[in-house]
Amino acid sequence: MARFDDKRRQFLQFAAFGTMAAAWPGFLLAEGAKTNNAPNRTFKPDVEIALTARTASVPLKPGTATRVFQYHGKLLKGPSSTLTEMPSYLGPTLNLVRGQKVRIIFYNQLPEPTIAHWHGMHVPQKMDGHPMYAINKGERYVYEFEVKNPAGTNWYHAHTHEMTATQVYQGLAGLITVTDEHEQKLALPSDEYDLSIVIQDRRFTADNQLRYLQHGRHERILGFLGDTILINGQIDSIIPVKTRAYRLRLFNGSNSRIYKLGWEDGTPLTAIGTDGALLGEPENYPYIMLAPAERVELWVDFSGREIGSDLVLHSLEYHGAMPHMGGGRRGGRENEDRRGDSGSGMMGRRLTQGDNFPVVKFHIAEKTSESHELPSTLVPFQRLLDRDVANPDSPILIGLSMMHMSPELNHRSFEMEAVAESEKIPVNTIQKIRIFQEDHAMRRGGRRGMGGRGDTDDSDERGGRRGGRGGGMGMMMSMAHPIHLHGQQFQILSRLTQNRHGSGYDSVKDGFINSGWKDTVLVMPGEEVTIIKPFQDYTGLFLYHCHNLEHEDMGMMRNFLVS
Ligand code: C2O
Ligand code: CU
Ligand code: CU
Repeated sequence: MARFDDKRRQFLQFAAFGTMAAAWPGFLLAEGAKTNNAPNRTFKPDVEIALTARTASVPLKPGTATRVFQYHGKLLKGPSSTLTEMPSYLGPTLNLVRGQKVRIIFYNQLPEPTIAHWHGMHVPQKMDGHPMYAINKGERYVYEFEVKNPAGTNWYHAHTHEMTATQVYQGLAGLITVTDEHEQKLALPSDEYDLSIVIQDRRFTADNQLRYLQHGRHERILGFLGDTILINGQIDSIIPVKTRAYRLRLFNGSNSRIYKLGWEDGTPLTAIGTDGALLGEPENYPYIMLAPAERVELWVDFSGREIGSDLVLHSLEYHGAMPHMGGGRRGGRENEDRRGDSGSGMMGRRLTQGDNFPVVKFHIAEKTSESHELPSTLVPFQRLLDRDVANPDSPILIGLSMMHMSPELNHRSFEMEAVAESEKIPVNTIQKIRIFQEDHAMRRGGRRGMGGRGDTDDSDERGGRRGGRGGGMGMMMSMAHPIHLHGQQFQILSRLTQNRHGSGYDSVKDGFINSGWKDTVLVMPGEEVTIIKPFQDYTGLFLYHCHNLEHEDMGMMRNFLVS
């Protein structure tokens, strides 16, 4: 792996991405040629799509076009509404219907290996885009699956071994919508009133090319943070709306930026859907935390707003997501500000994790008298409880740690196919899983529970000692990790914190949606999140990982073996 690491370091120092092929000479897949390159004749697709990953140039800024990676789609069979183009480098949105049989013939025309994963979709192992299935330039991979998901907003992206971050950063992402009869009965705002909003952050060179991380492990472990916010792949986009209700599908497609979404005028946000599905009923929040890979669907009513006025969705200020490197007080910003290297960006300054900045502007452009009532209930929702799970008293543990500059799960790094004993799960069971921050859980005498007070100084000291052994960076405390599990969506059973009042945690705690179906959950420092997740229908290897893409590529990923 040393050789690989050197190459990667070398790659990370390149500013331009056109050099990718040169930086990866003769890349070979460690796991050999596992593939699925021929359609199965007994599979009768309702929908057939040719999807190609390729290089392209798109005009993002005045002047030179930006070289990107891009998914290009072509509908071969099925309803014409199946593919909708998205602007800029984003892949087409795949609009699927529950029960449809879908075949996607995926072609790699990139100068490096890649594989596509359908994030949030419940599909068999071979159709899930595991990195072991990566294909080289000129090869194809045939996906065939039935849409088992309920109505909701999912997405697809590259999932290549140690290259997910750079490939997604360069553009390999797109949305997937699923509809079903429950959703259709609700008659939610549709067509032009159903807006997808992909939020990503990027940095640019003076020559308008995408710029990724320039430094070594220190920068990577903190994660990439750009200084320019792109909405649907576009800079400074303004969305014109009418004075009526809209359905907004917000999706955080950033590598590691966490948004605290709130309206500039303090209007509460009305959530109608989470990652993978609609909620049982609408819920109001003062703000909503949206970590990488998470989706939230909002009901937004612009009626009553003045024509010509704007309403801006911000990312509001928050604290406590980044590690503290001085063993200092929790919730401070002094160390967080040390990250980032670019001088100026949007608004003439760099954007650190937790800064306040505008995300997207809606311009009230047209009056309409149409009105649309928010339904008081949405879709049937059944809470999973202790009595539903196979292991109520012995949850599967996922410990998050960052010792020795290595973000890990249960102190293990990614292995392509290996599974530990605790990662074996019987198929067709529902499991309780507890995800927790190691640095806090191992502390002596800490009390659990919302608002519980612990002896935080002790944990700082412990983190400091460990960080010292890791060398280089000084103290490496825990940071926020968006943890994603492949396969079926899960429910959040409980969210406990060891953070004291007055810590940064207070600035995020009211923005978590703990109801509904999720496939990614943000675990803040000091938090312990218990989830309930079904493992039904399919056997095989299913990944779970941090969706901070830098962490994922650094090995904060493992497999469950469902059998
Ligand atoms: Cu967005 Cu392993 O996935
Ligand atoms: Cu996924
Ligand atoms: Cu992480």
